[in-house]
Amino acid sequence: MSNFLSSSIGKKFLMSITGLFLVTFLFIHLSLNALLLVDDGGELFNAAAHFMATNPLIKIMEPVLAIGFIVHIFYASLLTLQNQKARGKDRYASGNSTPDVTWASKNMYILGATILAFLIVHIAQFWVKFKITKELEPTHIDIAGVHTEVENAYALVNATFGYLWVVIVYVIGSIGLAWHLSHGVWSGLQTLGWSNTVWRKRWEVVGTVVAWIMGLGFSAIAVIQHFFFQ
Ligand code: HEM
Repeated sequence: MSNFLSSSIGKKFLMSITGLFLVTFLFIHLSLNALLLVDDGGELFNAAAHFMATNPLIKIMEPVLAIGFIVHIFYASLLTLQNQKARGKDRYASGNSTPDVTWASKNMYILGATILAFLIVHIAQFWVKFKITKELEPTHIDIAGVHTEVENAYALVNATFGYLWVVIVYVIGSIGLAWHLSHGVWSGLQTLGWSNTVWRKRWEVVGTVVAWIMGLGFSAIAVIQHFFFQ
């Protein structure tokens, strides 16, 4: 087992598993964040945030998610260093001009680093304020007919998107994410063996669609919050 994980294919396997797991998280994350576009003063978003904050399954998944990110980044760095070493002086000589090699596939590490930079800002702006410094004010909403006190997550998110620089950071992060996924999704599926000549083309289309739904979806939430919900 340890031999497999230290081989190149083993590392790629771990990257694919964690990458596809992170895409699943992002899909759920985007779906919940889409509630920020409901013009109800944040009631639905607050109800969803309350559910996520109090659900035991989500509490278990949080550290699993963090491990997923760490493993993905660790093995990406290891593989990139290994590839650079193997290519030596030739590392700038080939690639972009080769047909079939997209810009994204050649720049996955740079795109990943852009997402990580975005993620550090994002975690500091939301997760830290939600979970560590607990900067959320209480508010009241009706959940299944019961008047319930919940944390006003919407107010914090809405205030954060009041700053134009934040919106710009989110658009850059989301476009970087879309680019990363436009190669990452089908490439991950291929590494796991769920691909052949017919399915490779199909997965490429699916991957591109998923990638841009994410990229444009996250961007649109930030832009619409800034220009229409302040
Ligand atoms: C419009 C865009 C986005 C909004 C409004 C948003 C909102 C939030 C909020 C409110 C939290 C805190 C949740 C909590 O701790 O209970 C959070 C956490 C998080 N977000 Fe985002 N997010 C956005 C985009 C993204 C993107 C693009 C990524 C990844 C590339 C991402 C990754 C994460 C992660 C890893 C966490 C911490 C895990 C968690 O506790 O849920 N988010 N986000």
